[in-house]
Amino acid sequence: MLSEKDFIFKNNSNELENGIFQWSSPSNIALVKYWGKKENQVPANPSISFTLNNCKTVTKLTFVKKETNNNFAFDLLFEGKSKEDFKPKILKFFERIFEYCPYLKDYHFTIDTHNTFPHSSGIASSASGMAALAMNVMSLEKILNPSMSDDYFYQKASFLARLGSGSACRSVKGSVVVWGKNDSISESSDLFGVEFSATIHENFNNYQDTILLVDKGEKQVSSTVGHDLMHNHPYAERRFEQAHDNLSKIKTVLENGNLDEFIQIVESEALTLHSMMMTSMPYFILMKPNTLKIINKIWKFRTETKIPVCFTLDAGANVHVLYPENVVNEVLQFIKNELVVYCQNGHYICDEIGSGSQLIMQ
Ligand code: PMV
Repeated sequence: MLSEKDFIFKNNSNELENGIFQWSSPSNIALVKYWGKKENQVPANPSISFTLNNCKTVTKLTFVKKETNNNFAFDLLFEGKSKEDFKPKILKFFERIFEYCPYLKDYHFTIDTHNTFPHSSGIASSASGMAALAMNVMSLEKILNPSMSDDYFYQKASFLARLGSGSACRSVKGSVVVWGKNDSISESSDLFGVEFSATIHENFNNYQDTILLVDKGEKQVSSTVGHDLMHNHPYAERRFEQAHDNLSKIKTVLENGNLDEFIQIVESEALTLHSMMMTSMPYFILMKPNTLKIINKIWKFRTETKIPVCFTLDAGANVHVLYPENVVNEVLQFIKNELVVYCQNGHYICDEIGSGSQLIMQ
């Protein structure tokens, strides 16, 4: 079992003066939710997610060796323009991973990044953004230490991404990713995400996620604050146990393809996540009236048609509508006829299961 120490960079066997890489990393949607953490971004409970395919961050990292190595030096471009507001988050990320990547102070970096989804969509870009940056850092490290294995490359990339933003560690590799130690998945770890290794039932091939953009504004409560409120939360311990149970249940469901059970676990997880927010102190609500209207419409449609469509939520008001590929026409028609009216400016994004980060340029 790998520990934190195994991710400390030892020595350069190679020198590198400058270079350029580009990676894309997708967003992911949790089925069993991560909510609550310990020190150093260790999750309070395990989670599992579908990797998305279309909602991505694309990040190009250009670097040149500098004279001194006593500080971090980088420029940040977002959609081609300098973006000072994003710099503190990146600096914090570099500070957190420096212990594991001491070569970071040897270079001046230009980080040139954009998302394939609109910035003001209410879709969190921290998971895809931190993952894309971590992939680029690992490409650099791989040149300094060419002997590293592919497994180590992806494990350390996920380990670094986790230190940037917890759920980012699930955006590195694989279409279904588990993060957090759980007895039913022997290779699972609190330190990085692992690809779900059992054979996934064909019902989940190209599983669809249509993201209904109910509210594109900034969240009133950040996920950092939300995670923190799980400390001293009256239901926290029971919730963490429940996540362990749901993870082992969903593992079986992903193997046997039972969509009724899948729906039950996934919707219960979404509502439990929001119940934790409503029962913390201070309490808060991130759903909007239209979130509830959509949920009720989905329930009615499912009862009437027996089409296995369900919803999940992340830490916001938007609704992810999940369904198998073979009902895509019926569900898209339903979304257009009945749900689009609840979306801000009628906006929604069609996505589906993807396979993880991709190297675009080296
Ligand atoms: O990675 P963070 O700290 O933004 O937390 C994400 C939390 C949820 O999206 C609500 C759940 C999850 O597992 O992704």
